[in-house]
Amino acid sequence: MKYFKKLYRRYKLGEYYEEVVFKNKHYLDAQKGSIYQATSDKKRYDVINHLLASLNRETFYLEIGVRNPQDNFNLIKANVKYSVDPGLEYTQNPVDFKLTSDDFFEQLDQGALLSKSIKFDVVFIDGMHLASYVDRDISNALRYVKDDGFIVLHDCNPPTEWHARDQYLYEWTPANKYWNGSTWKAFVKYRKMNNLSSCCIDIDWGVGLISKGKNIGEPTSIDDEFYEYSTFCLSRKEVLNLISFDEFKLMVDR
Ligand SMILES: C[S@@+](CC[C@H](N)C(=O)[O-])C[C@H]1O[C@@H](n2cnc3c(N)ncnc32)[C@H](O)[C@@H]1O
Repeated sequence: MKYFKKLYRRYKLGEYYEEVVFKNKHYLDAQKGSIYQATSDKKRYDVINHLLASLNRETFYLEIGVRNPQDNFNLIKANVKYSVDPGLEYTQNPVDFKLTSDDFFEQLDQGALLSKSIKFDVVFIDGMHLASYVDRDISNALRYVKDDGFIVLHDCNPPTEWHARDQYLYEWTPANKYWNGSTWKAFVKYRKMNNLSSCCIDIDWGVGLISKGKNIGEPTSIDDEFYEYSTFCLSRKEVLNLISFDEFKLMVDR
């Protein structure tokens, strides 16, 4: 009898999850969003390589946050490449500078590594995905990117608020293991700046681009004072200047 009661309780719990969790709109939207972004046929390295090739010269590339270099860094076609990562997610961590990006830029400023006068054609920011960190990464990268070069940011277009959560390690949300963090907030801060040009390519979780000298999109005038995800979600096309990969290629090649 006890056994059957236990079985029945389990069955009821399963039924509850089916109704309350797996058929819930938040859960279904998050699953759909994850599939759309994770199966995108164009990836961040396609964007970066297209930008580097468009410059038609010897190119310098910096990647902040590398994890396994086979996923992106090794696929980048630049003449000179540097990588920065403190090694939080991949124990081998085969990078040039085993540092946080804050420490890397501090040492670069002091002339303790590379050269103070170095300028990159592309800086790819993909380190800690919390807005305050990404904000510092963008601010530092702006000082070390060439005027006609590009800052590229991964994870600017979280499909739902669950993907945009602060907590990386907690996976019991409708987004499961997928995490974009609050990178979008930092990107949007720079999307508002009139001295910068920017856009976001709608592939691979949103690949954001910022340039000081190349015209790649007008700043946004939309200002969400309280940075609520729901407001961002309603106007994301304009706030991010969201464009397709084909539109991006046309813009760069014109
Ligand atoms: C999403 S992974 C990078 C993925 C890689 N860029 C790619 O395209 O496949 C994020 C990496 O950022 C690193 N990271 C975390 N905090 C960091 C920080 N403060 N500065 C630089 N990198 C950081 C982690 O160790 C991790 O390897």
